[in-house]
Amino acid sequence: MAVNRDEFFREVTLRICSSLDIGVAVNRAFNYLREHFPLDEIYLDIYDSKLGAIRRIVHFAKSGGEAAEEILPLTELVWKWGSSLAGPLIMDAETVSGPAKAIAELVKLEENTDLVLPLRVEQELIGVLILRAYGERRYEQEHAELLSVVADPFALALANALSYREAIHYRDILLDDNRFLKMELLSQAGDEIIGGNSGLRNVMEMVRQVAPLNNTVLLMGETGTGKEVIANAIHFASSRKDGPFIKVNCGAIPEGLIDSELFGHEKGAFTGALTEKRGRFERASGGTIFLDEIGELPPQAQVRLLRVLQNREIERVGGDRPIPVDIRVIAATHRNLDSMVSENRFREDLWFRLNVFPIIVPPLRQRKEDVPALTRYFVELKSQELGVAIPPAIAPGALERLVNYGWPGNVRELENLVERELIRHRGGQLRFDSLLPSDGDSKAQPDAEGKADGPLNLDEAMSSHIGKVLRITNGKIHGPGGAAELLGINPNTLRGRMGKLGIMYRRKK
Ligand SMILES: Nc1ncnc2c1ncn2[C@@H]1O[C@H](COP(=O)(O)OP(=O)(O)OP(=O)(O)O)[C@@H](O)[C@H]1O
Ligand SMILES: [Mg+2]
Repeated sequence: MAVNRDEFFREVTLRICSSLDIGVAVNRAFNYLREHFPLDEIYLDIYDSKLGAIRRIVHFAKSGGEAAEEILPLTELVWKWGSSLAGPLIMDAETVSGPAKAIAELVKLEENTDLVLPLRVEQELIGVLILRAYGERRYEQEHAELLSVVADPFALALANALSYREAIHYRDILLDDNRFLKMELLSQAGDEIIGGNSGLRNVMEMVRQVAPLNNTVLLMGETGTGKEVIANAIHFASSRKDGPFIKVNCGAIPEGLIDSELFGHEKGAFTGALTEKRGRFERASGGTIFLDEIGELPPQAQVRLLRVLQNREIERVGGDRPIPVDIRVIAATHRNLDSMVSENRFREDLWFRLNVFPIIVPPLRQRKEDVPALTRYFVELKSQELGVAIPPAIAPGALERLVNYGWPGNVRELENLVERELIRHRGGQLRFDSLLPSDGDSKAQPDAEGKADGPLNLDEAMSSHIGKVLRITNGKIHGPGGAAELLGINPNTLRGRMGKLGIMYRRKK
């Protein structure tokens, strides 16, 4: 057998490294090996310690055809014997003995000869390469020696293929999760905006206006009004809808972690930074970042955020180069940022940056017309979640009471109320009476002249007054007898102010 070992090594290595698909690579090597060995079939087996078994991942025969992956279980004794296999081993029916006999049976050696090459990476056996020639005593010691020249390239190729398969496997799982979660979000936010045609009509109009653009949006409104729902709607109505939607609750991250959470860090940037980490801004690239409770952002982070908004690039903690990010920013707050600015608790320059397109999500008490639809929606949704087969009916008069309640906790309060009612419900209709604060209490809610906890602020007073006038004019703004005339201002000014205050109106036919 006159063969140059260096050339042999090179030729086999080239082939075994020629494809990420280990099957393709082995097949190429097989065709070359046949020039130097008696060779009818080739196998590549993984010694899988998680299974305590051999997994046969590649099998080609000279006659063509490729077999499916097979699992060959081993006894403990045979497993141990196999793990300690040092060099290449020639097996044929005449010479096998001891534990090798069990293997010979398992791999159906029969009247053939196998040349088994253990594949090790850093001492550990990860698999074996098996050459098979039909007939007995087909391999000599020379064959074994020549084959052992390429043990390392085969071992590395196998190890790489395994890592690659694992990575692909996890990638597929992640992609699948991602698809699933996106669908979840879609079903939560895409279609189900209750009141989109009534109480939230103006808001949805603005959503449609702003969604296709790339500008920063600021959502304002009391707690539980649906700011997050609207943020979702903007993202899913935008061209970024297939990109990520990353939510950050600025109030929930401990101050010391905010920078690394938002901007990421390099490996070793601080004690405990064992690996590099992408921040939420980087993760949001190509999509939307939703900065919830923006009013809770500490001053340090406000400066950093301002820089991101100005330059559209971030710097990781401990990093020394800016990383460009392609993001759309939506911020939300239930606080009055305006007064936070005058109290120096929120940076004015950041406020200007955020306030380019404010959307005010009106409180539920200013869109009572949505209460019935929301109630029905939550009864169905929560019944489903709680496993109530048939959503119970709502008792006569109950809706009326819900509509007249003041809802300081807004839509979330209604949602929770429905859930509690369903949990306590013992058959019959839903009455909501024991849960709803009594009439006396609800009169004290802010829709009246004053708030439970003090006088109305100017905006609230204005909004309540405009609301009253609109009721008098049946929603008419423009022209003789319209609200603008009664209030003595220009109709466009009135519309603008109503937009700002989040006042809904609909002309009654
Ligand atoms: N128009 C709506 N249609 C359907 N569900 C809604 C609507 N508005 C709000 N919800 C539901 O009400 C709950 C509160 O909404 P969301 O979390 O968006 O409020 P928020 O304004 O972000 O409140 P907070 O300021 O407390 O964070 C959520 O469960 C949301 O799904
Ligand atoms: Mg929220």
